[in-house]
Amino acid sequence: MAYQPAAEAVRPLRVGVTGIGIMGSNHARVLSQLPGAELVAVADPDRAQAERVAGFLGCGAVTDHRALLDLGLDAVIVAAPTHLHHPIALDVIASGTSVLVEKPVASTVAEGREIVAAADRRKVTLMIGHVERFNPAVQAVKDAIAGEELLSIAITRVGPFPPRMSNVGVVIDLAVHDIDLIRWFTGSDIVEVQPQTSSAMAEREDIALLQFRTASGVLAHINTNWLTPFKARTVHVATRKKYVIGDLLTRQVTECFDYRPDGSYSMRHLPVAYAEPLRAELEQFLSAVRTGRPPAVTGDEGVASLEIAISCLTGRSEGSFRSADLRRATG
Ligand SMILES: NC(=O)c1ccc[n+]([C@@H]2O[C@H](COP(=O)([O-])OP(=O)(O)OC[C@H]3O[C@@H](n4cnc5c(N)ncnc54)[C@H](O)[C@@H]3O)[C@@H](O)[C@H]2O)c1
Repeated sequence: MAYQPAAEAVRPLRVGVTGIGIMGSNHARVLSQLPGAELVAVADPDRAQAERVAGFLGCGAVTDHRALLDLGLDAVIVAAPTHLHHPIALDVIASGTSVLVEKPVASTVAEGREIVAAADRRKVTLMIGHVERFNPAVQAVKDAIAGEELLSIAITRVGPFPPRMSNVGVVIDLAVHDIDLIRWFTGSDIVEVQPQTSSAMAEREDIALLQFRTASGVLAHINTNWLTPFKARTVHVATRKKYVIGDLLTRQVTECFDYRPDGSYSMRHLPVAYAEPLRAELEQFLSAVRTGRPPAVTGDEGVASLEIAISCLTGRSEGSFRSADLRRATG
């Protein structure tokens, strides 16, 4: 007789999204197409925006996350502006509902830690939306460097000013993605930070050149800004035996290896799967909600990356310093 999964195991998870701007609309679109999810409703104080997205996707529309929770959900995606992640995530968790909080987890390390502690106490799944980990080109780089002795990582994430300026600069908005990647690629904490930032056009920093050293001894560099007329996202990783180059936009990943004394070497393009990163992220989140297993990006990891990002601002031009100083700087 064929195996019949229990009804509960196949029931789609009831999910809502709060904050239906650029990122929240993308979450809602992907969730509406995921077999394991039922997009119940979206929430935004901009009622017209919530209703427009809901009408398009065929779900309900409400104007705040409390009304969303009243609908009885298994999980909520928080894609409201970053300064609202903390109060909204705490309400969602208090209702016993699992939550995916967009990156960065919160505005401050203390708020981020409160979110993590609340989720631990309430025993709900908390995942942070570091979606770049689910980019297949990033996965291909990670696979290519597995088991290699890593020496350095250089990441470029530049582009024009975003259409709507949020109240954070490039370090908290963009570099936090790459701080997460550096920690993930190396499996190690960042213990030294040497930041250079400046505000050429905006009130907050719009250019940052950040250097790091991990506990495992890897050197890393992030070049990010909102002053480049085109978007570029590249990752270069030097290992003892290989040099791996990933273009995160074209999703082309190349490795150079087999260096010979005459200066010649071999080069090959690596296979990169096709997948929408946000879909892969949401599938992982829903799987963690269903199984109770730790999510792909934990709350602690989100807080650790935020802590380093904030230290790049508070520790500006102070030279290098150790993790104990980072803790003092970010409180
Ligand atoms: N993972 C990524 O790559 C990525 C990319 C972009 C943005 N983000 C994150 O997503 C979040 C939202 O960014 P965005 O670019 O979509 O911003 P956005 O300004 O486009 O959208 C924010 C939405 O939240 C709504 N909102 C305001 N107050 C609210 C409240 N109390 N409850 C619910 N909704 C509320 C606004 O009306 C707006 O529609 C930020 O935390 C940002 O860092 C992540």
